[in-house]
Amino acid sequence: MQARTESLRQQNRLLSRALASSASRYGIVGSSPRLLQAVTELEQVSDSTASVLLLGESGTGKELFARALHLASPRREAPFIKVNCAAIPETLFESELFGYERGAFTGAQSLRQGSFEQADGGTLFLDEIGELPLAMQTKLLRTLQEGSITRLGGKSELAIDVRLVAATNRHLEEEVARGAFRQDLYYRLNVIPIRLPSLAERSGDIPALALHHLNRINQANQRNVHLTGGALERLQAYPWPGNIRELGNVIERMVLLTDRAALEAEDVERFLPGEQEMAAGAPGEVPRAGRCRGRAGALSGRHRDGRRRTPLCAGHLPQPRGALPRPAAQRGQQDPCRPAAGADASPVQLPLEQAGARRLARPAAMDSPGLEVHPLRVTPSSQGAPP
Ligand SMILES: Nc1ncnc2c1ncn2[C@@H]1O[C@H](COP(=O)(O)OP(=O)(O)OP(=O)(O)O)[C@@H](O)[C@H]1O
Ligand SMILES: [Mg+2]
Repeated sequence: MQARTESLRQQNRLLSRALASSASRYGIVGSSPRLLQAVTELEQVSDSTASVLLLGESGTGKELFARALHLASPRREAPFIKVNCAAIPETLFESELFGYERGAFTGAQSLRQGSFEQADGGTLFLDEIGELPLAMQTKLLRTLQEGSITRLGGKSELAIDVRLVAATNRHLEEEVARGAFRQDLYYRLNVIPIRLPSLAERSGDIPALALHHLNRINQANQRNVHLTGGALERLQAYPWPGNIRELGNVIERMVLLTDRAALEAEDVERFLPGEQEMAAGAPGEVPRAGRCRGRAGALSGRHRDGRRRTPLCAGHLPQPRGALPRPAAQRGQQDPCRPAAGADASPVQLPLEQAGARRLARPAAMDSPGLEVHPLRVTPSSQGAPP
């Protein structure tokens, strides 16, 4: 009982500290110097229209920061449009970004705005920009320089007012050096680089982040699971190669799979990867300084083309020792590395909304009359590929 009271006190202290930090205004939890430096940089540039490049390992919060930048900017009432460059088939990039006119290609039955137009007046977030094909890099650079777009099949140029935020977990300088990324586009995007620290670089934030996720998951599942001080210490000692996403996933699994009211260090231990999984690192994975070799690879794996998988989506987490494996669907989670139930397994037939581009919080007033702006559901099989 005494131990539980002490652990609840500790939770309270940590939650209050997290709430007090200026970062929490944007849902960013943490108060380590490196994180606060990134938040300060974000706030310093939020009023400008300069392009921001968010750099950091997978799961460090790049998307969260992109949204925070939008919310902190004078554009907060306008749309925030996210495009996941890794998820769009190369043939659809142009229509995705720039839209098309009716009749531009077989199946283009109505005019469709692209992401640039949808984001007009707001922020366009190009996630995983390192995956953008070279041909599109050239077109993107031209658009950024000219401040205008032309829809596929269109004749006139449309002026566009967009604040660009890009993110990558790649070393773009290396991509430039090997000719995979245009140097001029790199300079154009890298006006304000903001580097997000890995969780290992800010391990002091782990307890606050763990409690933040615990709260969220307890609430979402009507549970009331606690973490003892010992459990928090164990979480803090783990290196978290998949960063905050991995931490959130482990806590979700603990909450959903435990039948205990308070989790101790030994309970946490059961849900962390075992030695075997740590030892079986994926080939080619570069170990980070101070990390257990191969752990990141063992946890995240790679796609067939060599790209790193989304780290630690629930479907890739090692099973807790002693727990029965359950399919992702049963846990109520969609494995982002697999198509949704019922969707065709071919990547080009995934609805684009699911595949990458999403339309967010666009006030009705932003839609021009006569323009049909619908969720992106064009598939090459049903509507014909753009030329
Ligand atoms: N500082 C933070 N405070 C609270 N939650 C965070 C923080 N940073 C990240 N998260 C959470 O961690 C998860 C991963 O964050 P996010 O998707 O922004 O990472 P990312 O860097 O874009 O990852 P990836 O490169 O894999 O796309 C999200 O659920 C996000 O809400
Ligand atoms: Mg991301």
